[in-house]
This record gives sequence, structure tokens and C-alpha cells, in this order.
Amino acid sequence: MVDPVLWDIGYLISASMFIVGIKRLSSPRTAPSGNRLGAQGMFLAVIITLLKLQSDGIIGWELIVTGLAIGSLIGYLMATKVEMTGMPELVALFNGFGGAASALVGLSEALKRITEGVPEPGVELYATWTAIGLSALVGWITLSGSLVAMMKLKGGFYVPLSKKDDRGRRRWISFPTWGPPWLNYVKVALLLSALLLIVLTIQEPEDKRWVYSLVATSTLLGILFVIPIGGADMPVVVSLLNSLSGIAAAFTGFVIGNNVLIIAGSMVGAAGLILTFIMCKAMNRELFDVLFKAFGGSGDRDQLTRTKVGSDPEEVAMVLDGAQKVIVVPGYGMAVSQSQHAVKEFADLMESLDCEVLYGIHPVAGRMPGHMNVLLAEANVPYEKLIEMSEINSEFPDCDVALVIGANDTTNPAARSGEGPLGGMPILDVDKASVVVIIKRSLSVGYAGVDNDLFYMDKTMMLFGDGKKMMNELNSAVKEI
Ligand code: TAP
Repeated sequence: MVDPVLWDIGYLISASMFIVGIKRLSSPRTAPSGNRLGAQGMFLAVIITLLKLQSDGIIGWELIVTGLAIGSLIGYLMATKVEMTGMPELVALFNGFGGAASALVGLSEALKRITEGVPEPGVELYATWTAIGLSALVGWITLSGSLVAMMKLKGGFYVPLSKKDDRGRRRWISFPTWGPPWLNYVKVALLLSALLLIVLTIQEPEDKRWVYSLVATSTLLGILFVIPIGGADMPVVVSLLNSLSGIAAAFTGFVIGNNVLIIAGSMVGAAGLILTFIMCKAMNRELFDVLFKAFGGSGDRDQLTRTKVGSDPEEVAMVLDGAQKVIVVPGYGMAVSQSQHAVKEFADLMESLDCEVLYGIHPVAGRMPGHMNVLLAEANVPYEKLIEMSEINSEFPDCDVALVIGANDTTNPAARSGEGPLGGMPILDVDKASVVVIIKRSLSVGYAGVDNDLFYMDKTMMLFGDGKKMMNELNSAVKEI
């Protein structure tokens, strides 16, 4: 039997690695090593827990090795197969897995206690059952909410085993964004019922029905919380679910008396909550409004009736000839077309012609926090050139050309009206540049489903086509200047 103090020392070391790791994430230069340190801390925590379980005789080596092998294989396959554009869905799914793990541990602890006999009423019973109840409530909400968020980010799902069409694809069901005003009353009623059920599990801890009812109520609550949220509010809800997965883990840490789970869960909970508020600020939204006054959003696409004649790369190159300042505004389309390297080549070419090139980064451009920063860093764009929205906006009025590559909602002047799915979201003021060049495949709407007046302005030149292809053609044309 190993001295339990040794396990606690191991957990303390891994918790310290998390804390230093998170601290190092605060700068792009130290972030990779911070990421590695956090992962090593987690590996250490997992190993210590498994050794502890084995030493206490709870599980044998066969189960440990099999679990590690299956988990590692699934993780490896997911990480290597996922496209960069599929990352947000994967993040949402991982949040869901975090919630599921906590919810299942909470459930098994509850059932185990009911089978083995609950303690006499007293502090131990109240504390344990409150922690079990809260980990179940938050865990199941996180799981069902994250699965809905994942499908919303994907836009829907293919029906397994359905008949394939002539392009070999199965039947696709789009995921709805639905939220009549009365739904808020249902959500509040469900939340109150869930809290009441936690009280009932404490009062009658031997009755399994309260536990199962809590599972069902929390799962339904998670679905109903996320279904009405859409459009530009999705980033907020994904980071909130991330925070909830940490909070659920912290409650589970209390249930099973695992200190490192309490520390790691609290850190994820706090970091996720900070990110949620940063996102809300970026979108100019209150968290309460995101959760209870959802706009609807991506479901209701505006019908496009206007047209615009496209330009060609040679015309744009002529406009760029002699430009003193160009601001590149990347968006989701840059990620889809993987055109970040071509964008960097464009910047190098323009700089060789004595033109200043900056990048305007909107906090929710793309589909995950920091999406554009990651892609541009991959293409070796110096970090100092990536300027946040609040700072870059004052630069647009004296910028010769704003080159928008695959961005739409984050540049849409309709947001200034305060109405509709983008209402009130601060945008990059590209319409204040002397000339706006937009690279995208068509005049179609962005994620929030709102038509963009920017495309139809006289000073706007549309380069219709795939982002990478058009950037390469533009680069060739600039070389001819
Ligand atoms: P979006 O508004 O999503 O628009 C992207 C544009 O890229 C589309 O209009 C599309 O137009 C174009 N595009 C797609 N594939 C392309 C390709 N291969 N080549 C060239 N263009 C292509 O982009 P955004 O301005 O980055 O805004 C992000 C939106 O996503 C916001 O509404 C935000 O709230 C939401 N969102 C963000 C996050 C985070 S955390 N960043 C998470 C979830 C949702 P065409 O089809 O005409 O090419």
C-alpha cells in the first residue's frame, strides 16, 4: 500500500504544471511550451490516478492498459482526421465529452451509494449529495447542449444508413434554430425542477427515481438552452459550455475526493467564463441576452436579389499599384480555402513595393476564438502585424485598400443598425477604406445569414472565386506591376 501523501504530492506537481502552462498561454511566443506543459501535467494526473486505483485494488492493469490504448487511438484518429474548418465542432464535442465524463461519474457514484446504503442524515450526506446533484445537473446540461451546439456548427447531420444520392451522400437534415418567447418560461421551470430534484435526492437519497428524473430534466434543459441560440451568438455559447464542462468536473472532484480534478475543473471553469465574457464584449451582447433573448439567426437566410459585376485580379493589381497602406481582413473563407500562405506571399510582395501591410483581426472571425491568429501564425505572419479590431478600426480611413479574404459577417455594416442577427456586433470598419477588395465565391450570406451591403458599394471590387485560387492569381498579377 503506497502512502496517500505521495499521490497528493504527484497531484500538486501536475496542478502546478497546469497553472504555469495556462500562464504561458498568455503570450503567443510562450504558448506552445505552455500547451505542452499543460498536456504533460494532465498525463501525469492520469497516470497517478490509474496507479492509485490499481494500488487500491479498484481496477487491474488489463483495464488500465486497454482503456489507455482505446482512448489514445480514438484521440489520435480524431486529431489527425479533423480538418481545420471542423475544429469548432470538435471543440464542442470535446466539451460534451467532458460534461459526459462528469455526469457519468456522478451517476455511478449516486447509484453505488444507493446500492451500498446511504449514510445517516448529516453533513456528509448533504455535502456529497449536493455535489452529486450539481455535477449531474451541470454535466448533463453540458453534454446535451454541446451535442446540439456541435450539430448547429455543422449545420445538421447525415442520416446514418439512409439512401445515398447520385453524389454518394446520405440524406442531410439541417439543424433548426428555434426559440418562441414562451420557451424561456419552460427553461426556467426546468431549471427550478432540477434544483428541486437535487433537494429531493438529499431528502430521500435511497430513491433512484429522483436521480433518473434529474438526469432527464438536465439533459432536456441543455437541449432547450442551446436550440434557440444561433448566428453570431454561437461563439459565446461554445465558450460557456466549455466553462460548464470545467465546473461539472470540479463538482465531480468533490464527489470522488480528487483534488486535481477540483483544481483543473475550476481552472477550466474560470478560464471558460472569462472567455465567455470577452466574447460577449466583442459581440456587444449581455450573457443574459444571449441565453434568453436569442436572435434566431442562421436558419432564416435572406433572399438575395441584388447583383454585382465581379472584377479580375489584373484590375485589382492596378488599384494596388502605388498603394501606401493595405489592411488584410481575413475570415472563415480564408480557413476554408487554406489561403493563409498565399495571403502572406501577397503581403511580402506589397511590402517589397514599399507598401505597409497590416491585418485586421475580428475576435469572432472564423469559427473559433483565435482562428485567424492560428492560421496566420502557421504562415509565419509576424504576430505584431495582427491588430485587434479596437485598434485597427482607426486605421481604415487612411488605408488605400482593404483586402477582405473570406470574411463576411465581421465586416457587415448591417450590424451597426442594432437590428437582426448581427445587431449591435462591433465590426471591422472596412467600408471606410478608399477601396475595398473582397474575395469570396459568390454574393451569398455569411454565418449569421444576413445580406451584406458592403458588396454592393461603388468602391467595392468583388473577386469571385475560391480564396486560395484568387489570392494566387492576384499575387501573379501584382508581380506584373
Ligand atoms: P462568415 O460570415 O462566416 O462568412 C464567411 C464567408 O467565407 C462566406 O460568406 C463564404 O462566402 C466565404 N467562403 C467560404 N468558403 C470560401 C472559399 N473556399 N473561398 C473564399 N471564400 C469562401 O465569416 P466571418 O466574417 O469570419 O464571420 C464569422 C461568423 O461565424 C460570425 O457570424 C461569428 O459569430 C460566427 N462564429 C464564430 C465563431 C468564433 S469563436 N470565431 C464560432 C461560431 C460562429 P461564399 O460562399 O460566397 O464563398
